[in-house]
Amino acid sequence: MAVDLLLGLQWGDEGKGKIVDVLTKDYDIIARFQGGPNAGHTLEFDGIKHVLHTIPSGIFHDNAMNIIGNGVVIDPVIFKRELQNLDKFEGLDYTSKILISRKAHLILPTHRLLDAASEASKGKAKIGSTLKGIGPTYMDKTGRNGIRVGDLELADWKDRYTALRTKHISMIDFYDAKIEYDLEELETEFFDAIKVLKKLTFIDSEEYLHQAQKSGKTILAEGAQGSLLDIDFGTYPYVTSSNTTAAGACTGLGIAPNKIGDVFGIFKAYTTRVGSGPFPTELFDNDGETMGRVGNEFGATTGRPRRCGWLDLVALKYAVQVNGVTQLMMMKGDVLSGFETLKVCTAYTYKGETIEHLPYNIEPENVDVVYKEMKGWKEDLTGMTEASQLPQALNEYIDFLEKELETPIKIVSVGPDRTQTIMR
Ligand code: IMP
Repeated sequence: MAVDLLLGLQWGDEGKGKIVDVLTKDYDIIARFQGGPNAGHTLEFDGIKHVLHTIPSGIFHDNAMNIIGNGVVIDPVIFKRELQNLDKFEGLDYTSKILISRKAHLILPTHRLLDAASEASKGKAKIGSTLKGIGPTYMDKTGRNGIRVGDLELADWKDRYTALRTKHISMIDFYDAKIEYDLEELETEFFDAIKVLKKLTFIDSEEYLHQAQKSGKTILAEGAQGSLLDIDFGTYPYVTSSNTTAAGACTGLGIAPNKIGDVFGIFKAYTTRVGSGPFPTELFDNDGETMGRVGNEFGATTGRPRRCGWLDLVALKYAVQVNGVTQLMMMKGDVLSGFETLKVCTAYTYKGETIEHLPYNIEPENVDVVYKEMKGWKEDLTGMTEASQLPQALNEYIDFLEKELETPIKIVSVGPDRTQTIMR
């Protein structure tokens, strides 16, 4: 069986959690392949909102096993809190529904401190990191110093922990960023959480997934963040530290490229970004304010307000190409209801030339946006359940995007709840 992928095509927060939750009924396994608790996947059903950071978004369905792959970085403290939140669900036996790759790396308390020290030292050039220790943990992974989940089964892991932590402390001093911390307290919390983590099942997830494929199980790989935050293809250095694009699912789960099936690309009907970095279609006017307010655009992990702007088709085309997207899913169509006119960025003016691809540098001083204006719609979409109910102007918007992106839009989401999902 081929493995389907689901990824965000913008700067994250596209609504991947909701769509994974909607699609899970068709899959035996949901597998997260990168990122860590910098992600906040929001799911809503039965009138309640749930935010997941590390746990795959299939957790609320009985039929699916949830794998945390080798490409993910896990903070045991946040993970423990996530599990405690699941305790609220009577009958949800999560310990038997989550399997963790031995090769996933651990976020240590000092990784978080290093993240804070590094950001503080950058001043105005800061990335706007979620400060969850993601960058330093991936640095230790590629630097071959990291501690992996499988190490917890070895007798000497605490020695390795101590050596790494000592090194981190001297690095924190090097930054001279004057961050305050109580490492003893952080470590007590960390070692407590390690005990909880060890109650779960650790596996060789690449082997598990290989056997699952052979036996005909259906697998959905769940991405975190978005393509424009990819360490290679995003707006570097204002990116996260993992490959958020399709190739990341191969390295983050051990899936061979020729075993990839459908690639579901999720995007918002407009654009948002949280943290620093270039954003060519960003709005600083009432329209941007309306998107933020109606769309409730606040980070699920940090609570920071998200920057808002019109849909950027140049960036979206790039993400569709890099990922090989086969089906698109458009989120938050309902948020655009009420705009007289909509704008879509169809090209950039870059160094005096009109271009339709994403150039090396999209800082505001290099790029001007070229907009196509489209008619808006007034209808409230949030109660609609069928494609036939969608207003004419929205259908024109969708048709235009499908043509430009050369990819069908299969789902239009009209609200945060599971039920507010229109299949086309
Ligand atoms: P980090 O991955 O926490 O270091 O953050 C690096 C950049 O990616 C910052 O601009 C963050 O705001 C952004 N980022 C990280 N995770 C997410 C996410 O899940 N959604 C949106 N932005 C994110």
